[in-house]
Amino acid sequence: MHPAQAPALFVTGAAAGIGRAVAERFAAQGWFVGLWDIDEAGVLAVQRGLGGAATVAGRLDVTQPEDWDAALRRFTDAAGGRLDVLLNNAGIAVTSPFEAADLARHHRLIDINLKGVVNGCHAAALYLRRTPGSRVINMCSASALYGQPELASYSATKAAVRSLTEALDIEWQRHGVRVVDVLPLFVNTAMVADEVSRMKTVQTLGVRLGPEDVAEAVWRLANMAAARMPVHTHVGWQTKLFALLSKLSPSFMNRVVTARMAGY
Ligand SMILES: NC(=O)c1ccc[n+]([C@@H]2O[C@H](COP(=O)([O-])OP(=O)(O)OC[C@H]3O[C@@H](n4cnc5c(N)ncnc54)[C@H](O)[C@@H]3O)[C@@H](O)[C@H]2O)c1
Repeated sequence: MHPAQAPALFVTGAAAGIGRAVAERFAAQGWFVGLWDIDEAGVLAVQRGLGGAATVAGRLDVTQPEDWDAALRRFTDAAGGRLDVLLNNAGIAVTSPFEAADLARHHRLIDINLKGVVNGCHAAALYLRRTPGSRVINMCSASALYGQPELASYSATKAAVRSLTEALDIEWQRHGVRVVDVLPLFVNTAMVADEVSRMKTVQTLGVRLGPEDVAEAVWRLANMAAARMPVHTHVGWQTKLFALLSKLSPSFMNRVVTARMAGY
């Protein structure tokens, strides 16, 4: 059950990796946490691991608008109507020479990584507007800074999420809702172990972040005064450096550096 006055977090992709770390962090601090994932057994296991913390958990496929409506109804019923933070975190990667991966895999990735975020923001808008100081945090990626070879459609969805974030943050100013994103480089999760580690860039740069580093960035954003929240938060020194370089360097230089790191 929801303890009176506790702020409420709704997180997608909470069965594993970054989503799980965020859910654990917020639950430990006394937030009411909604854990949602397409992997129902996984997310229920994470919920069980949280013991007596105030939580609700269940199956949500972010590509399905009706799943969003049902999950948000259940969540806000349990949270006394409030939705303080929506973390659009669920995502998948396809690491492959572009044409070697089935088109269906690229389409599924776009459905989850981009349309899933559009679905979530659309479905949650009403609840966010009703909660003073509410905010959306979208899980973006350093690959939004420059398209990554062998991660092309993934990078494209993250660049789109970045753009969606910028636009909605301006549009929803009139409702008092902030919309920001978080950009990590490689994080030590199943996504990297199972898929992304095929990229030469992973060997070049290493995996220097853990899910708890990203959870810490999300925690800071969730608790910061709304007016002080940066639209984009780059997680880790490598990402901060790349963000700065990509801003200062001419396009051809970004292209050369990205190609080199990827072994092209
Ligand atoms: N791991 C990294 O290096 C890294 C870097 C930058 C950004 N990100 C982003 O962080 C987010 C989380 O990634 P992660 O590394 O924790 O991955 P992960 O694979 O460990 O966890 C992803 C979770 O999303 C869930 N999921 C997949 N499809 C779903 C769907 N349709 N509906 C609901 N849930 C679904 C999975 O079941 C899983 O529990 C993703 O958006 C990813 O793009 C990851």
